[in-house]
Amino acid sequence: MPRAIISPSVLASDFGQLTAECKRMMKGGAEWLHMDVMDGHFVPNITMGAPILACVKKGIPDIFMDCHMMVAQPEKWVDDIAAAGGALYCFHIEATSDALSLIKAIKAKGMQAGVAISPDTPSTAITDEIGNAADMLLVMTVYPGRGGQKFLERCVPKVAELRARFPDQNIEVDGGVGPATIDQCAHAGANVIVAGTAIFAAENPEHVIATLKATVEK
Ligand code: DX5
Ligand code: ZN
Repeated sequence: MPRAIISPSVLASDFGQLTAECKRMMKGGAEWLHMDVMDGHFVPNITMGAPILACVKKGIPDIFMDCHMMVAQPEKWVDDIAAAGGALYCFHIEATSDALSLIKAIKAKGMQAGVAISPDTPSTAITDEIGNAADMLLVMTVYPGRGGQKFLERCVPKVAELRARFPDQNIEVDGGVGPATIDQCAHAGANVIVAGTAIFAAENPEHVIATLKATVEK
C-alpha cells in the first residue's frame, strides 16, 4: 500500500488567517493541505478559488495544495489552479463527461490528477482506464458541500473495492474523518486522509495528525 499522507481540510480553518493556518498544520506534521474549492453550482456553497490559493502559495512556496474541485465545470479551472500553484487537481467524476481527457489536461499542466466520487456514485464509475490514469482516487464519506458532517459508513466498502482494483494507487477519504472513524477507513485501504473539523477543532492538532497517520501505518 502507498504511504500515509494527512491532508487537513482548511474549510474548518479561520479563512481570515488562511496562510497562517496552513503553516500551523505543516508545523504540526501535515504533508498536504486540502483546499476545498466550491463554486455554488456543483454544490450550494462558495468557498475560494485560484486567486486565494495563489496568495497561500506565495506565502508558503513549499506547500502541497491538494485541491478538491467541487465545481460544475472542472475543465474550466485547470489552467488557473495550475498557475496558482496547485499540486493536485481532484475533480468529481459526476461533473464531467470525459474524465480521461481531463486527467490528461491536468497532467499536461504539471499537476497530479485526482478523481472523486460522491456518496451516491458507485466505485465502478471509475473504470480501470480512469483509475490507472489518475494519481489519486477520492471516496467522499459525506455529501460534498460543507464541513462538519457525519461520516457515512456506507461509503467505506467503496474504498475497499477500489483498493482491491488499484493496489498501488493513492486513495483518499474525505468527510467526517477523525480519530473515531479512521480505523474503518484505514482497514478498507485508504492512505490519504482528509480531516477538517477533527484537526482544526482539536486543542492539539499535531496529536490528531499523528494519531491518524499511525493508524494508517499500522
Ligand atoms: C466537504 C469537503 C470536506 C470537508 C471535510 O464538502 O470536501 O473536505 O471540509 O471536513 P470535515 O472533516 O469537517 O468533515
Ligand atoms: Zn474536500
